[in-house]
Amino acid sequence: MRIKVNNKEVSVSEGEKLIEILRREGFNVPSLCYAKGKKHQASCMVCVVKNCETEQIIPSCSTLAIKGMAIDSESDGVKDLRRQSLELLLSDHMAVCRPPCNPKNCALQNHAKEYRAKWNKFPRYSAIKATPPQHVKDNLWFDVMKCIRCGLCVYNSNDGFTFQNRGFGMQVVLPVESVKNVDEALWGICPTQALYRIEN
Ligand code: SF4
Ligand code: FES
Repeated sequence: MRIKVNNKEVSVSEGEKLIEILRREGFNVPSLCYAKGKKHQASCMVCVVKNCETEQIIPSCSTLAIKGMAIDSESDGVKDLRRQSLELLLSDHMAVCRPPCNPKNCALQNHAKEYRAKWNKFPRYSAIKATPPQHVKDNLWFDVMKCIRCGLCVYNSNDGFTFQNRGFGMQVVLPVESVKNVDEALWGICPTQALYRIEN
């Protein structure tokens, strides 16, 4: 079937996600809570695009293509909305990353730079109590203060990571009894350096 992306007619398969179509066609779409092939729930809203027929703003990571639809992912309006989503995430995130953060490995920092998102656009507020990083095992660490609650580790962990509390106080926890069995592959899907390694 065919759809239009940024005024370009493209052929797509039934059930393809808009984010994958756009990226394949060479359009840059940021994402934080999405990783191809992994379980996820659209929560960060940095991947939004506009459905030109309905004027609705939709997350491209969880919307499937429908025959004949027309999508705008490049207009200033769409990019402004992405910037606002990033600024909301930054308002609830530590302003100065603590070591060993490396911007090269942080999608949040990279997108914030690309979209010129300001760290102080909204009043800074975090309901998460200042907490030191948790040593998980071997060279694996978890820093809840850098977590943006994207959920990737929670939805892709068999019985390790879980969400605790609701609303502003919601946070990811790794129960002590799960530490031994935790899946190391999760360290590769975290979009910030909340899950990080200290190499010797
Ligand atoms: S620890 Fe990383 S992967 Fe897990 S919810 Fe936080 S930001 Fe997402
Ligand atoms: S990447 Fe689509 S909502 Fe987060």
